[in-house]
Amino acid sequence: MSRRNKVYEGKAKVLFEGPEPGTLVQYFKDDATAHNNKKRGIITGKGVLNNRISEYIMTRLNEIGIPTHFVRRLNMREQLIKEVEIIPIEVIVRAVAAGSLSKRLGIPEGTPLPRSIVEYCYKSDELDDPLVSEEHITAFGWATTQDLDDILSLALRVNDFLSGLFFGIGIRLVDFKLEFGRLYVGEESRIVVADEISPDSARLWDMVTGEKMDKDRFRRDLGKVEEGYQEVARRLGILPESGPRDLKGPKVMQ
Ligand code: C5P
Repeated sequence: MSRRNKVYEGKAKVLFEGPEPGTLVQYFKDDATAHNNKKRGIITGKGVLNNRISEYIMTRLNEIGIPTHFVRRLNMREQLIKEVEIIPIEVIVRAVAAGSLSKRLGIPEGTPLPRSIVEYCYKSDELDDPLVSEEHITAFGWATTQDLDDILSLALRVNDFLSGLFFGIGIRLVDFKLEFGRLYVGEESRIVVADEISPDSARLWDMVTGEKMDKDRFRRDLGKVEEGYQEVARRLGILPESGPRDLKGPKVMQ
């Protein structure tokens, strides 16, 4: 890891001061945690794959006019990002029942939901990221009503884009988590997509076999964890071995 000044260290990533004011370097670790840190492990090569996968997705989002913090990938494990003020809310978008929703509401995993459902959780390790409502978010000043309007509209646009992208490569996007930040430009600020989008933060199931290709393989001790992440990268046409000049883009499944 580099000797730059560390700004923040999370469970799966480290942030360093960037080369210019207003930028940071985001380093992707192989560390994996689950069940609020009670389960810890290393998924060899995960950082490299998540760096690539998140780069790919954030670049496409920027291209279609969905603003993100992503600037460019620097190397195998690092990317340059814009410094933002993180909004302390995790935004979860669900198409299919799974995970905590299935548990909370007793809906069997795999049940398609009648429409996309958006949930908000307050980012707090001590409290286990509790589910909160828009009322809590605005009353406690974590975000304004205007911020929430922007967040919801961006989250739904990301959902539309991601579900199509993954559908095209034979993957069912079951759910995913987004984080948002406030990007200050002079006196003005705008909401942008931040953090990462990867198999750490999304449930991705093979459309034909239903096989899981995401962090649930680690959370639930299903084995072949690296292979799951690799398969997502392979289908997106961005396996690191292929090198930056060989990027072929997503491989459309018949
Ligand atoms: O656990 P739950 O069912 O609420 O997770 C919903 C989605 O959000 C999953 O794709 C999971 O990977 C993601 N998530 C996350 N970080 C968290 C909680 C959930 O990336 N702290």
